[in-house]
Amino acid sequence: AKALRVALAGLGTVGGGVIRVLDANRDLIARRAGRPIEVVAISARDRTRDRGIDLSRFEWVDDTSALAAHPDVDVVAELIGGSDGPALTLARATLAAGRGFVTANKAMLAHHGLELAEAAEKAGCPLKFEAAVAGGIPVIKGLREGAAANEIGRVYGILNGTCNFILSKMEAEGRDFAEVLTEAQALGFAEADPTFDIDGIDAAHKLSILASIAFGTRPAFGDVAAQGIRHVLGADIAEAAALGHRVRLVGLAESGPNGLFQRVHPHLVPFHHPLAHVTGSTNAVVAEGNFVGRLLFQGPGAGEGPTASAVVADLIDIARGEFGPPFAMPAAVLTDAKPADSGER
Ligand code: HSE
Repeated sequence: AKALRVALAGLGTVGGGVIRVLDANRDLIARRAGRPIEVVAISARDRTRDRGIDLSRFEWVDDTSALAAHPDVDVVAELIGGSDGPALTLARATLAAGRGFVTANKAMLAHHGLELAEAAEKAGCPLKFEAAVAGGIPVIKGLREGAAANEIGRVYGILNGTCNFILSKMEAEGRDFAEVLTEAQALGFAEADPTFDIDGIDAAHKLSILASIAFGTRPAFGDVAAQGIRHVLGADIAEAAALGHRVRLVGLAESGPNGLFQRVHPHLVPFHHPLAHVTGSTNAVVAEGNFVGRLLFQGPGAGEGPTASAVVADLIDIARGEFGPPFAMPAAVLTDAKPADSGER
């Protein structure tokens, strides 16, 4: 069968990982996808950096946006990041050119997800983003497909590995925030702007995407109230522990009489709750469905292998021809999270 031809925009940790996954599991992936998946073109800021991969077999394209209408490309995988700028230009151009688009870019989806979903649906093209939320955990597919028959009451979880690592270390070692911050950044999971992690913005990006899929609302970063962990003290954590709780940065979306409540802030989680046992950079998401009950998704939320695994899973879906509306229902029927007459929430 004809190969699915992929262009990669961005060759950082995730982009390099995608090439490694496709190389290592080539035959298995082709059997699962029903046809080979081949990277044909690549574009990255730094052409000379040694990534430990032989890149000479790919066509280098200097102008990233030229990947959008490249004649030999079926799908563009965007692994650049950033809510606007080259990633958004590429997304718009790719969908306008009638090609599929796969992305790990939570910031772009939180800000422009509705527009991009409309463009994808208009073009009849896939827009897929499993890697954008909780890295390797298949939580987008879990909610969008696995739990599709359910009305969801709440979805909440630990959506930022950097913060969870910091909070876990502070507790285990009795240290303060500033002391463990640099260790967390050395993990390589931190955002380009690390305040996005620490101030809860990255978790808010991810929550707005999850909430859209769970509740049928338009993804809207501005609807999420976010507070981060910079003010959490070692003493707060010790006091919480004495009362049988752990401190976790939790993102929560819950439907209520005044619309959808979406908030990220440090929570006191009782020891008996599964989220209290999620330590280090691990992520976890809980979703409550009216027929399935309580689902718990847990696993690595960042890093090369897990995030690349999610990107390639989206490529496999596309190779199989499995796709539908990006946010689980057509963009035209997604509603505003805030009811029109509610005023202040
Ligand atoms: N900065 C993010 C985190 C990376 O720490 O979880 C994955 O989105």
